[in-house]
Amino acid sequence: MAPSQQLPLEEETASDNNTHNEVPIKSRVTVVGSGNWGSVAAKLIASNTLKFNSFYVSEANMLVFVTPHQFMEGICKRLVGKLREDAEAISLIKGMEVKKEGPCMISTLISEQLGINCCVLMGANIANEIAVEKFSEATVGYRENREIAEKWVRLFSTPYFMVSAVQDVEGVELCGTLKNVVAIGAGFVDGLEMGNNTKAAIMRIGLREMKAFSKLMFSSVRDSTFFESCGVADLITTCLGGRNRKCAEAFARNGGKRSFDELEAEMLQGQKLQGVSTAREVYEVLSHRGWLELFPLFTTVHEICIGRLQPSAIVEYSEHTPKFSLVEGSAQFY
Ligand SMILES: NC(=O)c1ccc[n+]([C@@H]2O[C@H](COP(=O)([O-])OP(=O)(O)OC[C@H]3O[C@@H](n4cnc5c(N)ncnc54)[C@H](O)[C@@H]3O)[C@@H](O)[C@H]2O)c1
Repeated sequence: MAPSQQLPLEEETASDNNTHNEVPIKSRVTVVGSGNWGSVAAKLIASNTLKFNSFYVSEANMLVFVTPHQFMEGICKRLVGKLREDAEAISLIKGMEVKKEGPCMISTLISEQLGINCCVLMGANIANEIAVEKFSEATVGYRENREIAEKWVRLFSTPYFMVSAVQDVEGVELCGTLKNVVAIGAGFVDGLEMGNNTKAAIMRIGLREMKAFSKLMFSSVRDSTFFESCGVADLITTCLGGRNRKCAEAFARNGGKRSFDELEAEMLQGQKLQGVSTAREVYEVLSHRGWLELFPLFTTVHEICIGRLQPSAIVEYSEHTPKFSLVEGSAQFY
């Protein structure tokens, strides 16, 4: 069961004696965002801050960001100049900002606006299931500092929540972001009652486009990241059970006549849909770079969402699908 790169956990308790009779350096943790996942993340973290004597929960220098992605720019603006110098961040947020100069990952937005290092945590993590302590896994993506990654792993890991770390922050974050677009496609398939083979095909094509897009954006993205919890496992759970799939199913059942805004308000009761806005953001990037034809699934999902195509178009592009082969470190099309 142990993931390939599971990091060791130091068992400490508040009653442990420090072997060198030194006061342990304590980290202080706060969670920014109180939605479904933010609340469950706070539960995981709280159990570990009690268990290990190296964490507090006030005057934070470890910041956990977990809000819908569209709010992060405003939240960062309000935090500028208010953080401790030794602050570290982790983003559990799936999505990206698209600016004129190109796509900006949420971890980059946090790092640049707040001037702090930012890791990411992504995985097959539907919050309701983790809330009732059903076993699942997650992946921490880090840039350079493995010690910090280990600290995040220690903060989140429980016997029912297994966390491993990989040195590929962009790969991990893009997996978590792009799978929501594929889940919208999977929801259309469900709404049209096309069956499991079709849904599996959409997931496979989607995974291929996720990998190609990620490698074109960042040549450092590793193939192995797609086999971690943040990759194929998150794709599967989101296409089977997530909110994006659910709303897209309702959209297709209604023949595209009820908007996603209306369905989101009615079905999610305050939660935010990420896949539709991510599909638009991905489309903007593809369109700007002249890559629309290379990503037929991502392109079609967006065009269905905005009513340009019927939901049935989700399976009407295969004959014209360009083939692309990926090599480590780059993407080549033929
Ligand atoms: N819910 C899950 O199962 C799950 C799992 C993994 C990752 N995620 C990701 O975690 C992030 C948060 O998802 P969630 O389900 O916890 O949130 P959610 O969809 O339940 O959103 C509600 C939360 O958003 C924040 N919010 C709402 N309006 C705001 C505003 N105007 N300004 C600032 N903040 C505002 C508040 O914290 C609120 O509680 C998303 O990026 C999501 O993709 C969610």
